[in-house]
Amino acid sequence: MSLKGKVAIVTGGNSGIGKAITIAFAEAGAAVIIDFVAHPEAADALERKLAAMGEKAIGVEADVSRIDDLRKLVDRAVSAYGRLDVMVNNAGVETRTSVLDTTEAQYDRVMAIDLKSAFFGTQLAAQQMIKQGGGRIINISSVHEDWPMPGNAPYCLAKGGVRMLTRTAGVELAKHGIQVVGVAPGAVATPINDATMSAPLQLARLQAAIPLGRLAQPEEIARVVAFLAGDGGAYLTATTIVVDGGLTQNSVGL
Ligand code: BGC
Repeated sequence: MSLKGKVAIVTGGNSGIGKAITIAFAEAGAAVIIDFVAHPEAADALERKLAAMGEKAIGVEADVSRIDDLRKLVDRAVSAYGRLDVMVNNAGVETRTSVLDTTEAQYDRVMAIDLKSAFFGTQLAAQQMIKQGGGRIINISSVHEDWPMPGNAPYCLAKGGVRMLTRTAGVELAKHGIQVVGVAPGAVATPINDATMSAPLQLARLQAAIPLGRLAQPEEIARVVAFLAGDGGAYLTATTIVVDGGLTQNSVGL
């Protein structure tokens, strides 16, 4: 799947699924802009790793929950490469808190990083893409966009919003040649699942609920995203692809 000559932004692009997407895109020939806020050294290391492979990634200091900082990412894509072809709204956090015990600060943080950043990332990317005659926006959601996860309430709400963002923006932006697609992973072996992966009983229960019998590797999600960013996504918009190893189809509950 070639993304040769394409310019992409991947929010949250230096950890977890985002890092795997950054690498998959660069390997497919795209230039990638990623944000960092807490770990500039991780972004540097990724830039260097890709440079050593002859690929391009640029780290930009940006807090994606702030519109001005999202704008910095788009501006950087345009100043460095003159265009933006693919926007991946990937950054996400979760609190593992319930409806009863979520604090206002926890709620606001999840909404800002998981939903607000995807909304304004879509808006800012689309404004640039309209000038170019089109582009692709890919929202990394979760199976929990329409499958409640007890004890992870703000995350489910935010991802439910991302699902509707994909559908609404997909319909609104089609006339500008912009396609908006969601990817909803199930359980993936990334830092967000560290606690589960280090609790043997919980891990065994989760694996038993997944028909494929294991968590996904981040690269398995990234390959789907690269496919959608390239020719594979040619006739998709306003819809979400579920990549969950069968988890949500299993009638054996978690
Ligand atoms: C959540 C994980 C959870 C997985 C499967 C993901 O979206 O971030 O915490 O393990 O869904 O339920």
